[in-house]
Amino acid sequence: GYGVLVRIAVIGCGYLGAVHAACMADLGHDVVGVDLDPGRIAALAAGRAPFHEPGFPELLGRALSSGRLTFTTDLEEAARVRVFFLCVGTPQLPGSNAADLSFVDDAVRSVAALVAASGRTAVVVGKSTVPVGTAARLAPLVEAVGATLIWNPEFLREGYAVRDTLTPNRIVYGLPDGEDGAAAQEILDDVYADQLRRQIPRLTTDYATAELVKVAANSFLATKISFINAMAEICELTGADVTQLAGAIGMDDRIGKKFLQAGIGFGGGCLPKDIRAFTARAEELGAHESVGFLREVDKINLRRRDRVVDLAKQVLGERLVGARVAVLGAAFKPHSDDLRDSPAVDIATRLQGLGADVVVTDPAALPLLARLHPALSQAEQAEDALRDADLVVLATEWREYVVMDPYDAAELVRTPVVIDGRNVLNPARWRRAGWTYLGLGRP
Ligand code: UGA
Repeated sequence: GYGVLVRIAVIGCGYLGAVHAACMADLGHDVVGVDLDPGRIAALAAGRAPFHEPGFPELLGRALSSGRLTFTTDLEEAARVRVFFLCVGTPQLPGSNAADLSFVDDAVRSVAALVAASGRTAVVVGKSTVPVGTAARLAPLVEAVGATLIWNPEFLREGYAVRDTLTPNRIVYGLPDGEDGAAAQEILDDVYADQLRRQIPRLTTDYATAELVKVAANSFLATKISFINAMAEICELTGADVTQLAGAIGMDDRIGKKFLQAGIGFGGGCLPKDIRAFTARAEELGAHESVGFLREVDKINLRRRDRVVDLAKQVLGERLVGARVAVLGAAFKPHSDDLRDSPAVDIATRLQGLGADVVVTDPAALPLLARLHPALSQAEQAEDALRDADLVVLATEWREYVVMDPYDAAELVRTPVVIDGRNVLNPARWRRAGWTYLGLGRP
């Protein structure tokens, strides 16, 4: 059926869960967001976004005032719910490559207990990124209380989270065979009626395939970035220009232009941890060799950060100790304040460790940076970071840095040397303005 309103609970109100909850309420469903963190719940309930995401504060405000979205720390408030979305994190386990599944396991156990007590039928929908085989392991716990488990991976990008949730490229359901699977599918179709009406493709698969769609997609994206960064290494040795190379190979639409931006590489809460967890899971499956290349993907990615540190050592030489280094950008990418595995923060921290006087600026991530990396000095405005700098490192391609006037910037710094960690500046223009320009894989 189309257009049925569904009572929904979203378990875990981090990035994924908070956005998902607000979007589902926006579609007209009745949604309760549940999280163990009282601070996060209080913020969301008051309409304050706990992270930087364009369009999210407005959406949250709208959903709250519609009365269709509430937040709680008490799962009991979800007792009358038909669909439970699992949106809890699966972070990398400390000292290991594997994913920590304890939050997913706990969430499934709590939801199963609640469903058992309510005596109603329910659909439990896993959205968290998990190692292949997890849904098959959890399904019996869900089925034991008369509910059905669907694995429905999420493909949203930070910075475009609202758009990607409301208008994804595709929707994937990993389902059990038979009557129960068909009945559960009908209920999830009601949840996504708006998307289905707009002809967004919905693919139904078994559990393992659905789980793999997510990890395979992220592995492919990570591989594409590391491929072009490996080419950047070759360009550095041969005087070739990786940005021209990427443009030229990208014109073959079998290759495509996207995700061929060479620079300091990928970071964030997803690509790095997902390729590591995939390697760990493949090893458990005895398929060490199948995704062995992902280790190389990870290594290439980390080498690009080393390259920036080496370039800084080369240009500053003895003067590195005490040199003032302006790092433009802290977030792992623009339109985000996420610092998880951020190449920018890694580079800033390492240069500081070598004795440089590092100052970091970022239009969105400074509050988080102060909390998580209090030892790094920060400047609210880019001009203040640039003032008297001996070296400038562009680490996150926020628009305001990309469009910066090299003549104005040259007047602020002590020595006009820039490392363009994202290959987004025009080298000829910066050189004309008196700068020593150093790109990654670019002469
Ligand atoms: C990624 C995927 O793109 C989403 O499809 C997926 O749903 C999400 O992970 C997830 O698993 O939840 P996200 O981490 O938000 O999304 O960021 P991306 O836009 O993929 O960028 C990842 C990193 O790659 C950034 O650090 C970015 O600077 C870097 N990157 C991206 C490059 O270095 N070069 C490129 O050409 C593209």
